[in-house]
Amino acid sequence: MPGPRFTDKIIFITGGSSGLGAEASALFIDEGAHVFIMDLAEKGILTRLGEEKATFFQGDVGKPEDCESAIRACVDKHGRLDILFHNAAQPTPMTTVPFHDLVQFQQIINTNLCGLFYLARIAIPQMQVQKKGVIVATASTSALGGEYGLASYAASKAGMLNLMRTMALDHARENIRINAICPGYMPTPMTEGLGELVKVVEESIPQGRGGDPTEVARAALFLASEDASYMTGQALIVDGGWSAHSGAPNLLKYVPQQFRYDEK
Ligand SMILES: NC(=O)c1ccc[n+]([C@@H]2O[C@H](COP(=O)([O-])OP(=O)(O)OC[C@H]3O[C@@H](n4cnc5c(N)ncnc54)[C@H](O)[C@@H]3O)[C@@H](O)[C@H]2O)c1
Repeated sequence: MPGPRFTDKIIFITGGSSGLGAEASALFIDEGAHVFIMDLAEKGILTRLGEEKATFFQGDVGKPEDCESAIRACVDKHGRLDILFHNAAQPTPMTTVPFHDLVQFQQIINTNLCGLFYLARIAIPQMQVQKKGVIVATASTSALGGEYGLASYAASKAGMLNLMRTMALDHARENIRINAICPGYMPTPMTEGLGELVKVVEESIPQGRGGDPTEVARAALFLASEDASYMTGQALIVDGGWSAHSGAPNLLKYVPQQFRYDEK
């Protein structure tokens, strides 16, 4: 059994109070790290993680001044920043562009996409001084193609991927690796209240279920770790096979008996 991969590493996580970010925080701590969580609200995360290895900073990733203060507070406290995991995101109402509230559109792009920019422009110079660093961003399978009714969210997440790739190119020779994960559907507070829709989504996932946030967090930890030392500029899809198909329905169910080899 290999040893812990993050002993004494300093991990800055946005959206770490809930869902995927909370699971990732717990896993990082299990592997020896200190986590510095930036989120809009604390939501009891310090009780779960304990204050010895976790710090909470209340801030909005959509505000450049909050991003700067939070990263500076992390570096002031720990003396360094090894890994930035930008995972916070604002969900979106499902609607079409003509009905999309203008301010809400701007907020979603600002939180999800601009947040990565605001954080990276403070984190990268620190990593340059350290001559090493890792950034992981949480995008989504919504970044990989158009998504019905999800204009702002899909645009923000797709933008994150090309920002991630560009920063990866620009900083590859400085020993800074930058990658993204693209989760498919996970039951978390963000996806609560979808009701009947969940069944439809789960049915369309080849593995037949949503992802446990821990399964996605483990992929984020892989990218953050030395196990991914030769990976940069990549989007790692963690979606139970959702994005593996072409978009065509599963016609196997409808093929007449005489054409089926497997059931003769
Ligand atoms: N749940 C899914 O099905 C799913 C699918 C694909 C991608 N994702 C992505 O995974 C990431 C985590 O989502 P989750 O499902 O764990 O959601 P979640 O709602 O459980 O957690 C998101 C956290 O981000 C925080 N946050 C939101 N806006 C913020 C802001 N402006 N500043 C600081 N913190 C902010 C929230 O307070 C919350 O604690 C997000 O980037 C989301 O887009 C989720």
